[in-house]
Amino acid sequence: MNIIVLNGSPKGDLSATLQYVRYVAKKNPQHEFSTLHIARDIQKIENDPQRFAADIDQVAAADVVLWSFPLYYLLVHAHYKRFIELIWERHATAAFQGKYTLAIATSIHFYDHTALQYIHTVCDDLGMCFLDDFSADMQDLLDTDKRHRLLMFADNALRTAAQQRPTFQIPQPALVEPSPYRPGPAPSAPSAVDSGDKRVLIITDAKDPAGNQAQMVSRLQASFGGQAEVVNLQELRIETSCLGCIQCGYDNCCPLEDRDDFIPFYRDRVMTADILIYAGTIRDRYLSARWKTFFDRTFFMGHIPNIKGKQIGIVLAGPLIRNPHLREILQAYFEMMEANLVAIISDEGNDSVTL
Ligand SMILES: Cc1cc2nc3c(=O)[nH]c(=O)nc-3n(C[C@H](O)[C@H](O)[C@H](O)COP(=O)(O)O)c2cc1C
Repeated sequence: MNIIVLNGSPKGDLSATLQYVRYVAKKNPQHEFSTLHIARDIQKIENDPQRFAADIDQVAAADVVLWSFPLYYLLVHAHYKRFIELIWERHATAAFQGKYTLAIATSIHFYDHTALQYIHTVCDDLGMCFLDDFSADMQDLLDTDKRHRLLMFADNALRTAAQQRPTFQIPQPALVEPSPYRPGPAPSAPSAVDSGDKRVLIITDAKDPAGNQAQMVSRLQASFGGQAEVVNLQELRIETSCLGCIQCGYDNCCPLEDRDDFIPFYRDRVMTADILIYAGTIRDRYLSARWKTFFDRTFFMGHIPNIKGKQIGIVLAGPLIRNPHLREILQAYFEMMEANLVAIISDEGNDSVTL
């Protein structure tokens, strides 16, 4: 069979995960494996329509699609997430539909299940036939037994595809379309929330000012009587997501510091706020790739709980009930940061008055 590998590591050929795939390929010379470096090349893929079309043609021509990816903050890397968005944005779903697929991930097994659930659900949404997934620790390839398990997994999955046997999908609750949120008049003092000397920062990625996320953010800001600052990630200069070099492990200094505005923004405005409200819209099965870039880039401070003790609110537009892994990811992220997640509010199933 012809197997196309979608490499989700920003490290490209040097990806640890890709070595697992290469090991499988070496032991299965009857199949042909070719690799697309999705996370490494996302800027080219996004900006050059011919490159995107060529990659999609390779997917369409393959018998099996293999998602090969490292865990990045309880999910996949932001660039991989962006590619997944582009599949729908550029109407390329037909190349994936009906195709057998499997996933190989590496990590330190910290919330790898949420990332695998995300990929499985995305594959289901694309109408693919999901064979199985394999989640390895980044060192497993050095262990004889673990290598054996990897080969058994690959053998079983690829045999299922070759024999055209049936696969299963993750059952989904019915989609409840959120109704448009039309806020009433904002409270004026004294009923507006008085945050006293606490600094409130609302971070949003809303693009459509009439959409539910933007409307919720503007009502929320008004509820603080104008005391809350709002920053839109779409307006911040962020050139790339984390490159996975881990240089920050020594001293919390990121080599991308001078390349864009993310690090000064995070240090000077996020880390200095007392109350942080994160507002997003569910896009495929997570927030936007822009938000994922935000989380990935926080890795430069990720070795310490850098927003410890802060009060956190999350405001979401979109079907949260259909994405239990997203709730789990958000809860785990803020727990890891030793921050206090007060509530997650979504527009799902709520009318304007209730919201
Ligand atoms: C920014 C960043 C975030 C990470 N997040 C997670 C995580 O949430 N869970 C986990 O188990 N490992 C996490 N890891 C570890 C990587 O998944 C692991 O090192 C992986 O094997 C790297 O694979 P690659 O060489 O193919 O990129 C993270 C690493 C980085 C650099």
